[in-house]
Parts: sequence; structure tokens; C-alpha cells
Amino acid sequence: MTKKVTITDLAKKAGVSVTTVSQILNGKDARFSTKTIEKVKALQKDMGYIPDFNAQNLISKTGKTIGVLIPSLSNPFFAIFSAGIQNEARKEEYVPLVFASNNDRELENQYLLESIRRAADGMIISSPVSDVDYIDSILSQNHIPYILIDQAPSAQEDPIDVANYEGGAKVANYLLENGHTRIVIVAGDDPTVNIRKRLQGFRDAFKDHGVTISDNQIIYTHLSKKGGYDVSNKAVAAKPTAIFAVNDELAIGLYRGIKEAGLRIPDDISVVGYDDIDWAKYVDPKLSTVHQPALEMGQAAAKLIIERIESGNNGSLESGRKISLPIQLIKRGSVKKIN
Ligand code: RIB
Repeated sequence: MTKKVTITDLAKKAGVSVTTVSQILNGKDARFSTKTIEKVKALQKDMGYIPDFNAQNLISKTGKTIGVLIPSLSNPFFAIFSAGIQNEARKEEYVPLVFASNNDRELENQYLLESIRRAADGMIISSPVSDVDYIDSILSQNHIPYILIDQAPSAQEDPIDVANYEGGAKVANYLLENGHTRIVIVAGDDPTVNIRKRLQGFRDAFKDHGVTISDNQIIYTHLSKKGGYDVSNKAVAAKPTAIFAVNDELAIGLYRGIKEAGLRIPDDISVVGYDDIDWAKYVDPKLSTVHQPALEMGQAAAKLIIERIESGNNGSLESGRKISLPIQLIKRGSVKKIN
């Protein structure tokens, strides 16, 4: 157990009461002399006294805390997304508590309950394993507003739209313009709603050009670099001219597998990813991809949840404000024009 400096230690040293210290440090110092105020503040600094969060919370009734559930801490997409939440939260003096569910429903549930126990004022949930009915019931009963975003199964239209269907269609049209019709798609197991939209946009755009992408042209794997690497032999064996990986991590895993199979990107096979994580610029050749505004998604999610917290708009199921964010096709070196 840590032995922190307490308000009593500080009061003793300053020769004043605990109430005096508390009032001065909470800005309610009108009735104290400048000398007392300065003495208490100087001692706070010297002694390293940090007011106890729980005690302050009891007085202010809000910890200005946002619970955040993401699927993974290792995917750069979610690191940037979390940074966006932090940026926006900081402006409004909120603190995010970020947890990764690692696609484990038990872990997610544990962190959901911990967020409530630690007095989160609102929740941002982007994890795919969420049980929406349970989340709605437990958070609504506790009057905690929440937002479901990205991989979270949505019970309604996403409050933050990032044009997944259009993004998939953009990739398809880009490959078609470059002459590719023999395609393999690599996707994560049990694709979440956002990724299903991406796939649908891709398949519909091909269909509009008279090319049907059948189910057996889609290879499912773990949504990670390793997942992409693990299925690279299978993808190559189908002899596609191009592969669409539904996120950049899969594409990067495929890069290694394709190289080990003795093939070159883009001369023998073209690859397109999705997300535009920073790695996309550092692999060779640089990866063509769709830029997802991960930072802005985090900022928008924080903005919306803070609005809901401060307006007392609990629960996510009421139709609230929606934000649409643009995506962009980034053409780099991983697609070759073929006849
Ligand atoms: O890399 C993470 C992927 O999963 C992204 O495409 C994001 O949209 C999420 O669903």
C-alpha cells in the first residue's frame, strides 16, 4: 500500500485546519488572507500533495472520466483513435480510461464494470465482442451515456459515419481502372458491421462492372499482421492479380508471405489495404490504401460523448447528433496497371 501525502499532513505543516486547505485548493479562498493562501499553495508544491481523486469526486459528483473500450492496444489504428479521444477530452478537462478487450467478451465485461465502478461519466465502445443489449441495459440503468463506434456492433445507425461502403467501392474502382478482375479479398474472421459495409461496397462496385466476387474469393483470418501472413500461401495459390486486405495490418502480413513465396509486389501481384496507418509509408513498396480519419474519429467520439454527458442525454439509443467524416484513397506503389 502506498503512503501518500495527505491533506492532514499538509494542514498540520501549514498550521491550519483541513477545511481551510480543502477550500483554498478548491478555489474557495475568498475568506482567507493572501499569506495563508500562498503558504498552503507553496506547501502543496513542496510536499507533492495530490488531492485524492475519490474524495474530490464525492464533492464534485463528477470525475470527468470517459471509459474507452477498444479491441486492441497493438493496432496503430486504435492507438491513433485513442489519441484523438485524449486530445479532445483534454480540451474539456476529461480523462480517458482506455481498456483493450482483446476480443474477449469476459474481459470487455470486466472493464465495462470497472469503468462504472470508477465513476466513468460516459463510455466510448469500439470493441467487436460487445453485447449491445447488455451494454444498453447496464449503462442506461446507471444513466451513463455511451457511443458505439467502428467495430462495435451497432444497434442503430453509427453516430459517426466514415463511409465504409464508399471506401470499399473506391478500392474496387481503383483496381478495375488498373485492369484487375482476378481478385482475392483477405478479411478478419466474423467481420464486424463496418467491415461488412466495406466488403459490400467493394463487391457491388465490381458487380456494376459485370464482375461477380464470389464468397470463395474471400479468405478469413485473424485481423492482424500475423493473420495476413498466415493466409498468404492460400491467397497466392488462388493466383489473383490483386488482393484487397480489409485493413493495413493484414496487408503488411501479406507482404511478407508474398515475398517468401518468391513473388514481387506490384509486378506479380497488387495489394491494397485500408486505414493508412503510418507503417503504410514505410513498407516496400509503399502501400496503396484508404485513409481512415482515425484521429478525427476519436476526436468526434469524445466530442459527442462529452456533449451527451453535459446535456444529461443518457443512453445511445436516442437519435442524437451525427458526424460524417471523409475517407480518401491514397495511391502509392503497391498497385500495377495490367492489360
Ligand atoms: O485496423 C483496424 C480496422 O478495424 C480498421 O479498419 C477499423 O475500421 C477497424 O474496424
